Amino acid sequence: MHKYEFYQEYAGWKEFSEKPLSERLPLFSRNGRIYDVLFSQQFDRAFLDDLYDLTNRIRRIAKTREGTHWLHSLHNHQRAMLYFVQPSTRTFLSFQNACHILGFHTSEIRDPHTSSEIKGESPEDSIRTFSSYVDLIIMRHPQEGFAEKTAWLLNTSERPVPVINAGSGKDQHPTQALLDVYTLQRSFEHRGGIDGKVIAMVGDLKRGRTVRSLSYLMKNYRDVKLLYAAPPAFQIGEDIKQFLTLHNIPFEERDSLEDLLEEADAIYMTRIQDEHDEGARSQSQYEEFSLRHKHLARMKPDAIIMHPLPRRGEIEVSIDKDPRAMYWRQERNGMWTRAALMTIIFASDDEVRGEGTRRFLNETS
Ligand code: NCD
Repeated sequence: MHKYEFYQEYAGWKEFSEKPLSERLPLFSRNGRIYDVLFSQQFDRAFLDDLYDLTNRIRRIAKTREGTHWLHSLHNHQRAMLYFVQPSTRTFLSFQNACHILGFHTSEIRDPHTSSEIKGESPEDSIRTFSSYVDLIIMRHPQEGFAEKTAWLLNTSERPVPVINAGSGKDQHPTQALLDVYTLQRSFEHRGGIDGKVIAMVGDLKRGRTVRSLSYLMKNYRDVKLLYAAPPAFQIGEDIKQFLTLHNIPFEERDSLEDLLEEADAIYMTRIQDEHDEGARSQSQYEEFSLRHKHLARMKPDAIIMHPLPRRGEIEVSIDKDPRAMYWRQERNGMWTRAALMTIIFASDDEVRGEGTRRFLNETS
């Protein structure tokens, strides 16, 4: 396992990290654009709507060979580093392939035992080293706040490069939230979008960072109601509840999945996540928080079922065939959403809306 004894003290970090988020966020933007992607609270409605539109353009441009070559030409002079020292399948692969869609060359570290961290180099020094070679760092790390510390550190170095948080401990997973709202938006395209919908989140809401990041994004939509259902030990955090109250987002906590089946327009399932707490042992599955085939008939006919995956039995596999199951589409949406996000960070989004749209979609922007 990763050792943390090499974490370093940096002058100024403590003072910075203790400031309220609103005072920290400006450091992570440049020229009116998001530069480091660290928290869901960085995204407003205009950004989310724009990302949705860009994602759709990119996925349509990629349908032809010529379009694919053109997308590839946007960033084939640049390099990205994937530093994933916590297990990952989808997030890693979707980021890697999103990089390749845009032409970025990629390198990766997935196990700190194969890097100089095993010799005692601090994670901060490792990351500073990556920034000597690449133009973008995408990182998944078990420690909450470490992605932000990295971004802060690089922003104050001579060679700043953007940092994307691909999962920071139990805290946040902002790009998963982006692909989740993309999936919601696309599914509700002909039903007025996300506004006015009832969205239920079920499972390990305490340690599920995807649930936390998605909850923050709900402030950007009108008349949304959230329903949460979790085993007693894994209830949604007080900080999230305070955030929802502050932003007048109605939410209710329910005792089981059965208590929300009829009402929800989207049911966002999650698994029990033991890996975040060393030595913690919990039941791998809770029947009252698992979706079974028998439940489908009680759900709205046009409701959708989501899951960030991986699952551990909380969605019966026979449900995969139901047209309301969106989790496999979510995986693919993640790749396109992440590609669109990178065009925003690297300011090639205007080319997608302009030249790319004109040449490959036969439309004007
Ligand atoms: C999630 C994660 O790692 O936070 N998965 C993902 O990124 N698609 C959820 C999970 O691991 O359960």
